[in-house]
Amino acid sequence: NDPLRLGIAGLGTVGVGVVKIVRRHAAMIEARTGRQVAISAVSARSRDKDRGVEIGHYDWEDDPVAMAKRDDVDVFVELMGGSDGPAKAAVEAAIAAGKHVVTANKALLAHHGQDLALAAEKAGVMLRFEAAVAGGIPVIKALTEGLAANEITRVMGVMNGTCNYILTRMYDADLPYETVFDEADKLGYLEADPQLDVGGIDAGHKLALLASIAFGTQVNFDGVELEGIEHISIRDIEQAADMGYRIKLLGVAQMTGRGLEQRMSPCLVPATSPLGQLEGGTNMVVIEGDSVGQIVLRGAGAGEGPTASAVMGDVSDIARGIAIPTFGTPAHRLAPAKPARATVPAPYYLRL
Ligand code: HSE
Repeated sequence: NDPLRLGIAGLGTVGVGVVKIVRRHAAMIEARTGRQVAISAVSARSRDKDRGVEIGHYDWEDDPVAMAKRDDVDVFVELMGGSDGPAKAAVEAAIAAGKHVVTANKALLAHHGQDLALAAEKAGVMLRFEAAVAGGIPVIKALTEGLAANEITRVMGVMNGTCNYILTRMYDADLPYETVFDEADKLGYLEADPQLDVGGIDAGHKLALLASIAFGTQVNFDGVELEGIEHISIRDIEQAADMGYRIKLLGVAQMTGRGLEQRMSPCLVPATSPLGQLEGGTNMVVIEGDSVGQIVLRGAGAGEGPTASAVMGDVSDIARGIAIPTFGTPAHRLAPAKPARATVPAPYYLRL
């Protein structure tokens, strides 16, 4: 078998993590997938930055679009981020050039997922995005593969590690929002535009992506009712604690007779429940299916190792020749979402 050759665009935390896994586990991946996985070329904004991993022996491309079209690239790994601009142009170029695409870009998929998935289908290539939702937790694989024969009734969870860090730390250390926000900033947790995190937008992107997969509907980010955590005060958190609750930024998507409800908002959850005990930085996704019942997935929602793990899971599927539609259902068969206002008041009490 010929090796599966990757072109990696973006060498931030996740890109470096991917390079490390390819180097560390080349033999294991080949043994498991039956195919060698190799890196042909890399691209990033700065070439000379010390990333703590050797990249000098890979071909360097300044232009991600040029890399997406290279003859020696079979899979374009997009780790640049951003819902439009270079990331979108490069992913479109890769698909048009007949390359598979693996991306961690939740904003891109939340805004353009339907068009990109249609384009990938037409071109006969895979477009996969496990790393875009809940970091290292293989929730997309769970929904599209293991739970493929379930009618999904509800998907919910904590999908932004930064907000979970902020809310958890406010409670644990009895610190105000502003102080913990600055801490999160210093720790490098925040997105380039922090409003994406604390405004609930990033988590809303992820919820819209999961809802599409779960309910066979086109991604409808505009239909997500969004509320961020900026206005949560230490007093809110204390009062919730006095009543035996924690406040979490919780997303709930469910299909009802009226349409698709999608809501991302601060919620009260019982302090002793798995969601209430979820530590900062961690994500938890709860899936309910008609045959399987309830499943709870918990793990690191961000960071080098966990996110790169998800990227390489998708790469491994492609190496094995496993063909799964981007959103589980072929894109041309996804029904337009009919958004409905969420009936559950927020904050509300959720019991796991
Ligand atoms: N800002 C995101 C988070 C990164 O905190 O969850 C992972 O998508």
